[in-house]
Amino acid sequence: MKTQILKPTKENITKAAKEIRLGNIVAFPTETVYGLGANALNKDAVEKIFKAKGRPSDNPLIVHIENINQLKQLAKQIPKKAIILTQKFWPGPLTIVLKKKSIVPDITTANKDTVGIRMPKNKIALKLIKESNCPIAAPSANSFSKPSPTLPYHVYEDLKNKLEIILDGKQCSIGVESTIIDLTKNPPLLLRPGKITIEQIEKTIGKIELHESILNPQKKVIDALAPGMKYKHYSPKAKVILYQELPKIIPKTDGIITYKTKLNKPNEIHFKNKQEYAKGIFKAFRDFDNKKIKTIHVKIVEEKGLGIGILNRIKKASTNKI
Ligand code: TXA
Ligand code: MG
Repeated sequence: MKTQILKPTKENITKAAKEIRLGNIVAFPTETVYGLGANALNKDAVEKIFKAKGRPSDNPLIVHIENINQLKQLAKQIPKKAIILTQKFWPGPLTIVLKKKSIVPDITTANKDTVGIRMPKNKIALKLIKESNCPIAAPSANSFSKPSPTLPYHVYEDLKNKLEIILDGKQCSIGVESTIIDLTKNPPLLLRPGKITIEQIEKTIGKIELHESILNPQKKVIDALAPGMKYKHYSPKAKVILYQELPKIIPKTDGIITYKTKLNKPNEIHFKNKQEYAKGIFKAFRDFDNKKIKTIHVKIVEEKGLGIGILNRIKKASTNKI
């Protein structure tokens, strides 16, 4: 099979939707990262996702929808807090975990009785789901354990010739994966921090709890509640070292990620604010790997708002303490 990167024209979205309806897999842009999609209700199609990514079968997929009726099609119970959150943050980078209906195949949810659901904001994603006429299960379109893809060529690097079509939506605007909240728990349990912040969620539905994997991203928390969190995601091949303050002397051949203050060093990638940081962090890791850089020195962000999500990703990518 030869992978094509296609411009998101009307004809090409129709072509991609046809692949989804045939039970094949397609990569598409969302506002967070690129997804590798298949018909969420077709178990053979979903199996192709796990195969292409080399993803462990105990890690459930997020199901993407484009209208609220699809939520009712997938979820057994829709608690009040789910309605409030979806009204406020959908379409957008928030995934809610709810009890699933039996229509959702076990492979999609890795045998769990819950399903993660999200309505993305990206127009190409929404059109693709609509034309496919089914909810689309999609993990990030990277191969297992590589950083998530935020550009079409990242998907191509990892999954070339394992899928038919990559829809080119240029660079993802947010750059870190969606915030995930489990609403089957009381109080609701945050499983993954992201662009929709803890403060924003608590303002909307009151107190929530944070999963241990968020508080301790480097610790291996083996827990069925947040299966994805136990894998060393997001990691570049290079060694990643985190700093509150970067050291004065850094070897020229090492990579540096600077934040707020630019140093004008040889292999420096600079982010001027948190938005830029989130958008560019996975690309930076991939760029350093492509340059065969062995060590990356990273200036960390403040652990507040979107900074919690960014810090969670960079801590997972590093093996060293700050
Ligand atoms: O922004 C995103 O969420 C992107 C785009 C493509 O939408 N998707 C994404 O998918 O990041 P993935 O597969 O890379 O991460 C999904 C995470 C995993 O950590 C998985 O364990 C968790 O969501 N998850 C999915 N369904 C779940 C469930 N029923 N219960 C608990 N965790 C779940
Ligand atoms: Mg992923």
